[in-house]
Amino acid sequence: MDTLSSKRVLFPSVPDLTSVRAQFPALQRTDSRGRPYVFFDGPGGTQVPQSVIDAVSDYLKRSNANTHGLYETSRRTDHIIEEARQAMADFLNAPSADEIVFGPNMTTLTFTISRAIGRMLRPGDEIIVTRLDHDANIAPWAALQELGVVVRYVDFNPEDCTLDMMGFQRLIGKRTRLIAVGYASNAVGTINDVRTIAEWARAAGAWLYVDAVHYAPHGPIDVQAIGCDFLVCSVYKFFGPHVGVLWGRYEVLERLQAYKVRPVEDRPPDKFETGTKNHEGIAGAMAAVDYLAEIGSRYGTGFASQYSQLEGRRRNLKAAL
Ligand SMILES: Cc1ncc(COP(=O)(O)O)c(C=O)c1O
Repeated sequence: MDTLSSKRVLFPSVPDLTSVRAQFPALQRTDSRGRPYVFFDGPGGTQVPQSVIDAVSDYLKRSNANTHGLYETSRRTDHIIEEARQAMADFLNAPSADEIVFGPNMTTLTFTISRAIGRMLRPGDEIIVTRLDHDANIAPWAALQELGVVVRYVDFNPEDCTLDMMGFQRLIGKRTRLIAVGYASNAVGTINDVRTIAEWARAAGAWLYVDAVHYAPHGPIDVQAIGCDFLVCSVYKFFGPHVGVLWGRYEVLERLQAYKVRPVEDRPPDKFETGTKNHEGIAGAMAAVDYLAEIGSRYGTGFASQYSQLEGRRRNLKAAL
């Protein structure tokens, strides 16, 4: 009996995933002795289905160009980027595709935003980070200490690796301008109560920046329900290429002054995407979202009723996750 069928005996509700596995060329590979590879580094990223590989390769074959040109491949590039923003807006249940910023990865996007936010801060303003977070959601904020910003650290309980929520709340004060917290820890798996933290942030007049890199492959994300101001994730963690995505509340993104070259438009999301984007990666990101939506429509019908307020791809994505 193979592992999947023995799992089905133990858990009859686990669907037959053979056809899903078949979509992943990396899972068909064998070593020189014919033994299949097994990939254990889930937190480090996922393998990709053929549809994502095809989207990247089709982009390079049929649409490869720079943006905003008056010729076919450039128009196609603009269209793919627009569609990919909408796909990511659906993935995060964002109100608008104009709130989706693409970047090389979560770390770079977070430095981009932290530097823009730093321009608005005064010495003595405070930012709260947590010791449970990946350094990518600490170092960009800690760098603002060179401007006189005070960075405060929330501890976690070593017994169960949950955040010290009482200590957290005590750290929030009149000078708190931003709270940076992970949705889930890549090290120990703790899922943080980001909705409660969003309420605290709002009550204090501070922004909430959520690192959803580790959470995104494991659960449905709804930025409107969380009530945060920013949320970041990385597509290579959920079956896509190495591309980072930042969602920001439009009016907040609009207020920030980005570091950018002058010809780039001075409005979100463009102003945070200075330089040429990773177009083929963005095409693959859209395919990764569509892959998940397809999983939702095939296997997630039992969950779809939980998301009756959503429609189409948004609902399929939530059902998939
Ligand atoms: C929780 C978490 N946050 C941030 C990052 C950094 O993301 P990126 O590789 O997109 O910069 C990682 C990477 O593993 C992560 O697991």
